[in-house]
Order: sequence, then C-alpha cells, then structure tokens
Amino acid sequence: MKKLRVGVLASGRGSNLQSIIDHCESGAIPAMVAVAVSDRGDAFALERARNHGIPAVHIHPQYYAGQEEYESRIVLEMQEYGVDLICLAGYMLLVGKALLEAFPGRIMNIHPALLPSFKGLHAQGQAVEYGVRFSGCTVHFVDQGVDTGPIILQAVVPVYPEDLEDDLSARILEQEHVIYPEAVRLYAEGRLRVDGRKVYILQDGKRTMR
Ligand code: GAR
Repeated sequence: MKKLRVGVLASGRGSNLQSIIDHCESGAIPAMVAVAVSDRGDAFALERARNHGIPAVHIHPQYYAGQEEYESRIVLEMQEYGVDLICLAGYMLLVGKALLEAFPGRIMNIHPALLPSFKGLHAQGQAVEYGVRFSGCTVHFVDQGVDTGPIILQAVVPVYPEDLEDDLSARILEQEHVIYPEAVRLYAEGRLRVDGRKVYILQDGKRTMR
C-alpha cells in the first residue's frame, strides 16, 4: 500500500510531530512525514524533523505581504513534497483561505481541550481557571473557524483541584501523543467519513464514532 505523505506545520517544541514520526517509523501508521514546516526558525520541531532526515523548512510570515501570500508559500512547499494530509501540531497561527482551498478536508489539528470548550490559546489554563473536573484533547478537521471543525477523536483526563496549568498540560499531552497518531492512522487507512459535523470511523464496513 502506498504510504500517506504527511506534512506537519508546527510552531514550537514539536512533541506531537515527534509522536507522529515515531508511529510512522515503527510501522504503526501507513504514512510518512514528508516535510515539516514552521513559522519560527527556532522551533525545536524543525530540529526533531532534521534528526530523522525529514526536510525541515522555516517560512517566516513577516517576509510576505499578508496571510494569503504567506500560506501560498506553505502550499507550494507541501505540494513540492507531495503532501496528502497536513497535520497542525502546535501551530500557533490561524489557518486561512489559501491553505484551506489547497487542502480541502485534508488538514487536521490537535487542540488541548475537549472542544467546543476552551477554544483558542491557553486552553489548559482556561480549564484550570474554570474549575472543570474533566478536560482532555481533541483531534479535528480544520475549517474556516478557530477550533470549530468536525471532531475526529477525543480523550478525557481528570482535572484535580490542586492542578496548575502545567500539571494539566502534561496530563493532556500524554493523551495527545496517543490520539493524534491514531487519527492519522484512521485517515491513512481511508476509514474516516465526514458527514456534516460528524466524523464516522469505518469498522468492518460499518460506521462508528469513538
Ligand atoms: C500541544 O499541547 C497542542 O495541543 C497545543 O500546543 C501544544 C504543542 O505541543 N496546540 C494548541 O494549543 C493549538 N491551538 P508540541 O509542540 O510539543 O506538539
């Protein structure tokens, strides 16, 4: 079977990128990371990619006239490496028209909260402040909104009264590293069907939701 070619967009540490690379390399996902792109030259994610012989590209948003030009450059890079699916992994910029139109239904994101709660930045801090008992993470397809696209997988973790933002972030991150590769695997195996807001997972020819 031809391997799915994944392009990862990351702005920072890159632990989710690492998890996807590791699952690809172990054969757990029939995919490969074809390129990693970052808006930040100092993102550790780029170094992680290089350590695995994966092309790592820095595209500086400020060198472009606006979001559309900047994203068109990303699109060119993704096309150059034959990318089938883009995974946002700690990518901290909004996704606009150029990326969405070039990769319709082919961009995924991981968000550190149980969407639709706590969208946007500092989701873990928002959850701690709010006093929720449970939080978690969500892998979803990206649409025009911020953290609004159809949900593929979620994982739940407890929130304890004494938690600080960092405690909850670490607990959630562990689950991110489980469900993001799993979502990529389901996509690579052609087992995701989007119907409106719902993403069904094909299991023995039947539609399920996890
Ligand atoms: C992860 O917790 C991810 O869910 C979050 O940034 C972190 C990146 O970590 N993403 C967002 O908040 C997107 N709005 P990583 O660089 O180690 O993968």
